Amino acid sequence: MAQSNLYSRVLGTGSYLPADRVTNQDLADRLAKQGVETSDEWIVARTGIHARHFAAADQTTSDLALFASNNAIEAAGVDPQSIDLIIVATSTPDFVFPSTACLLQNKLGIKNNGAAFDVQAVCSGFAYAVAIADSLIRSGAHRTALIVGAETFSRILDFNDRTTCVLFGDGAGAIVMQASDEPGVLASALHADGSYSDILCTPGNVNGGVVAGSAFLHMDGQAVFKLAVNVLEKVAVEALEKAQLTAEDIDWLIPHQANIRIMQSTCRKLRLPQERMVVTVGEHGNTSAASIPLALDVAVRDGRIKRGQNVLIEGVGGGFTWGASVFRY
Ligand code: UT7
Repeated sequence: MAQSNLYSRVLGTGSYLPADRVTNQDLADRLAKQGVETSDEWIVARTGIHARHFAAADQTTSDLALFASNNAIEAAGVDPQSIDLIIVATSTPDFVFPSTACLLQNKLGIKNNGAAFDVQAVCSGFAYAVAIADSLIRSGAHRTALIVGAETFSRILDFNDRTTCVLFGDGAGAIVMQASDEPGVLASALHADGSYSDILCTPGNVNGGVVAGSAFLHMDGQAVFKLAVNVLEKVAVEALEKAQLTAEDIDWLIPHQANIRIMQSTCRKLRLPQERMVVTVGEHGNTSAASIPLALDVAVRDGRIKRGQNVLIEGVGGGFTWGASVFRY
């Protein structure tokens, strides 16, 4: 029987943004040609977003995930063949099936028959995936996990709907976690409330060879905003209490990067100085499940996040779902 492990620890991080960087002005110019009015001023004032990246026409979510994963594997210094668990958090998979995680395993050339599956919790997907991987590693069932958040949200955006199409971008972030005697993930908390499924959804499915319903993202922005501000504070406090820490013990807060106003409000409610929050929404837009690992990788690589520091990640998104994890980096 496999022996249980004390902790799962982050060994390395990686990320990838597609080459096509689209500024608010670029987007406003494109939209104006089809009679949709928006402006850099509106987008910056309401969201804090200045630019986002869009995948090339021939790039899929697993392609973005592959770049991010290779970066994370290199940073972790592990043999890819030792990775016995791959979890991809995504709402924009390459196919209905097989999972993006299985496609990624094949692209990485991993032949060890470890587990690979996708997690569908929209913008909370990465927080969900970290909590799942931590449980599977601590139970002794798996030893080395590749956890990825990867999205091509541009594919489900309705570019005639200015209330949503200016908000999202494409990208991928990844981490490698491994069993360890040293502290890693300290606590996690996950939640969902399906009664809010209609305020943020892409309500289409494949039926009889065609898409039935709508394959575009729909959002009631104000309803999502209110719920997000409320649950992000609660789930952060819950994860901190489980870890027997307070907000003062947190070196870095990495919230889901959807809207700077939601992020600043969460930071204020937790009484954390804004300088301790990692902010990438301005350059990435909302990349859904990719937003947290993208921000994590940016702050690790620019030297802000150091070994031994406590990091709090938290996500909120469609479902409705929300979750948080505290880990010692
Ligand atoms: O990733 C999952 C989590 N998602 C989120 O956290 C998103 C949460 N929601 C939000 O971030 C905000 O609600 C939005 C950024 C989506 C919208 O901001 P808001 O301050 O709630 O604006 P609003 O929806 O109240 O719209 C204000 C005005 C409206 O015009 P009127 O009715 O006041 O004349 C909109 O039609 O802004 C208009 N508007 C725009 N104007 C220019 C909406 N979108 C645009 C746009 N450009 N792109």
